[in-house]
Amino acid sequence: MRIFVAGARGQLGTDCIEVLSADHELMPADLPECDIADQASLHEMVEDFRPDCILNCAGYTRVDDCEDNREAAFRVNVTGPVNLAASARKTGARLIHISTDYVFDGTRPYPLAYEETDPVSPISYYGFTKAESERVVQAGTDRFAVLRTAWLYGIRGRNFPKAILRRALTSPETLKIVDDQFGSPTWSFRLAEQIRHLIEADAQGIFHASSEGYCSWYEFATALMEEMGLSVRPRPCTTEEYPTRARRPMNSILENAALKKRGWNRMRPWREDLAQFVSLHRDRLIEEAGGK
Ligand SMILES: NC(=O)c1ccc[n+]([C@@H]2O[C@H](COP(=O)([O-])OP(=O)(O)OC[C@H]3O[C@@H](n4cnc5c(N)ncnc54)[C@H](OP(=O)(O)O)[C@@H]3O)[C@@H](O)[C@H]2O)c1
Repeated sequence: MRIFVAGARGQLGTDCIEVLSADHELMPADLPECDIADQASLHEMVEDFRPDCILNCAGYTRVDDCEDNREAAFRVNVTGPVNLAASARKTGARLIHISTDYVFDGTRPYPLAYEETDPVSPISYYGFTKAESERVVQAGTDRFAVLRTAWLYGIRGRNFPKAILRRALTSPETLKIVDDQFGSPTWSFRLAEQIRHLIEADAQGIFHASSEGYCSWYEFATALMEEMGLSVRPRPCTTEEYPTRARRPMNSILENAALKKRGWNRMRPWREDLAQFVSLHRDRLIEEAGGK
């Protein structure tokens, strides 16, 4: 298949390129040469490549910054998907779009999970733009799949495990982590494999695709220290004790109900994936975090 990958140099995009390149012909696209919010130049690139599928891994993903830079966040997270849907429709390609657990408000009693059919109700500007992105994709083309994922981490880019490791190695006394927000840490490489499966199955509709199981950010950080073999232990705190510019859902656990119903769920328990991630990348993680 010919696959146009937007946001190809991001955390998820790089893993998708690695996973998909074995069996498919790819067109990796990212800033600065491809701006998904620039309709004319995007469409020219898509038309030239004539893809069977457009995969959108691009996004304005810094949740707190979205509160202050609303125009920029809207441009990437909403105008971009409007344009990608239009190009997909015009060229007959299927559009695979990535969304987030932050489209939910998190008021569901823990540990009940959200399913694909639950109504969205975002509480941050980032969540609002991603909920809008889902709406414009569905309005813009008939052939689409929207994948909502959560708490993403991988070897490239910025993410929670990397930030925690940096602090564990440089200022361990500051390691106070929120213990009352719950979700599913998801390895971007595993998600890339799930995406490959959905592309090859010609999937249509909305899908939750996060790791199996759930934890708090504090439990995630503690598990990371254990897997890394570090003696540093984070201390738990509440959301109230750790204020951020954007509000986060207290419970954004996702159930991969639609994937399971079709026998397509390839997601693994979060702790198993974390162990595999660390065993593959331990040295590089330590080096990047400023250790030896
Ligand atoms: N990270 C998470 O925890 C998380 C959780 C749930 C869902 N998601 C969703 O998963 C998807 C992938 O996230 P990620 O963590 O891989 O994000 P990421 O590492 O921030 O990658 C996003 C990529 O998109 C590029 N980009 C930004 N604006 C663009 C534009 N106008 N045109 C083309 N490319 C543009 C970025 O380039 P620059 O770096 O140059 O800006 C970057 O390479 C996003 O849809 C995100 O909302 C992420």
